[in-house]
Amino acid sequence: MRFLIAAALATLACEASRSQEMSYGQAEYLNSCAVCHGIDGKGDGPLRNLLVKRPADLTHLSQRNGGTFPYSRVFATIDGRYAVSSHGKREMPVWGRVFLEDDAKTYGPNGGEVVTTERIHNLAGYIATLQH
Ligand code: HEC
Repeated sequence: MRFLIAAALATLACEASRSQEMSYGQAEYLNSCAVCHGIDGKGDGPLRNLLVKRPADLTHLSQRNGGTFPYSRVFATIDGRYAVSSHGKREMPVWGRVFLEDDAKTYGPNGGEVVTTERIHNLAGYIATLQH
């Protein structure tokens, strides 16, 4: 039951965010991502100089993917829990774990997973709007 309520709330929150000026995805982005990827997603956030790898430019993901926004890849990269690392250590936090730790405290393990998934969808959706 708690699972269903959380799922419903997450859906509502998502619907509501679509009509607001600043979406949840944008707010979440500015909170958690802009320090590295920059306010506008070009990879020039203030923390970039502390990293070995340059934070990705998030504004040309469609262009580099033949014109289609690679939604599932972006989702999986942000989540990070199921990503196979191809080269070296990941410098970006594993957001699926970071968010769930937080969300599980409020919604329990199952509801937390629903909310975490929703947050990552909001972020992937927001990044889709940054494409040039
Ligand atoms: C500590 C710095 C840092 C933060 C904070 C950060 N990232 Fe990243 N991100 C990186 C780096 C560095 C890369 C390049 C890949 C790697 O880590 O090896 C990257 C890669 C990515 C990619 C892959 C792009 C591609 O080319 O496919 C996506 C998508 C992404 N980040 C989204 C996000 C989102 C969304 C957030 C906020 C929830 C975020 N990042 C927060 C450092 C960061």
